[in-house]
Amino acid sequence: MINSIGSMKTKGVFITGSDTEIGKTTISAGLGNLLFQKGIKIGVMKPFATGIKTYSKYFKSHDAKLLKEASNNKDNDDIINPYFYSVPTAPYLAKKLLKLNENINVGDILNKYKEIEKRHEFTIVEGIGGLMVPLSKNFFVADLASIINVPVILIMSNKIGSINHIIMTYRLSTAFKLKIKGIIINNNCKFSDFPFTLISNKLQVIVEELTGVKILATIPYLENPTFTKIANILEKCGIIEKLESE
Ligand SMILES: Nc1ncnc2c1ncn2[C@@H]1O[C@H](COP(=O)(O)OP(=O)(O)OP(=O)(O)O)[C@@H](O)[C@H]1O
Ligand SMILES: [Mg+2]
Repeated sequence: MINSIGSMKTKGVFITGSDTEIGKTTISAGLGNLLFQKGIKIGVMKPFATGIKTYSKYFKSHDAKLLKEASNNKDNDDIINPYFYSVPTAPYLAKKLLKLNENINVGDILNKYKEIEKRHEFTIVEGIGGLMVPLSKNFFVADLASIINVPVILIMSNKIGSINHIIMTYRLSTAFKLKIKGIIINNNCKFSDFPFTLISNKLQVIVEELTGVKILATIPYLENPTFTKIANILEKCGIIEKLESE
């Protein structure tokens, strides 16, 4: 079963979600680590990243470092993360604030993705923020996902207001004709009081009912959500089998 992932029709996934800080990197890294543990050669990509400053000598963004480390990937930062802006906002605004005139080279991003895809059995691409983050004036994360053309996984939080965000993101994905592989509900906020527990326990059922999209996993709130812990949870949720199924 596991070994067949290398021969799946799907060679990768695009991880997006309803917002920034929703757990895209945490879960992408967990997924990369789980698949690596199963002996699968994992490619990773974070085409656009931003931050207050570059993370280190080797990685412009912390996300790229975590994705690479969790997946035991050997690529260098330039191919994993072609675009980095040292202002933590949407790339379109970041470029304006930094007074950069550069145009985004979509062909180059796609070539880099194809190059990564060719050398790996499965590639995990993390978007930036949510689907309508502008990368340039007429080019949004949803357009990027559409061009990379692999199924998307939608990461959703579980708090008051999440249903609205989930349905909006789902509807937008369908409007952009993205193939939705499934939804992962991430309890990235801690709620232990009634009625929040009652509401949050029902989110999965409601989301499945309203979207018809499969829930691939539900991640509990973790004080220290390391990629190995997330990998473990994803495995228990049967994510590999769910990814393999059409
Ligand atoms: N299940 C969880 N339990 C507790 N904390 C979590 C959980 N999931 C994510 N977090 C925390 O939430 C924060 C944001 O997560 P993460 O960086 O994965 O979000 P993101 O969607 O990738 O953000 P960005 O849009 O900046 O790329 C991190 O500090 C992470 O440790
Ligand atoms: Mg991230």
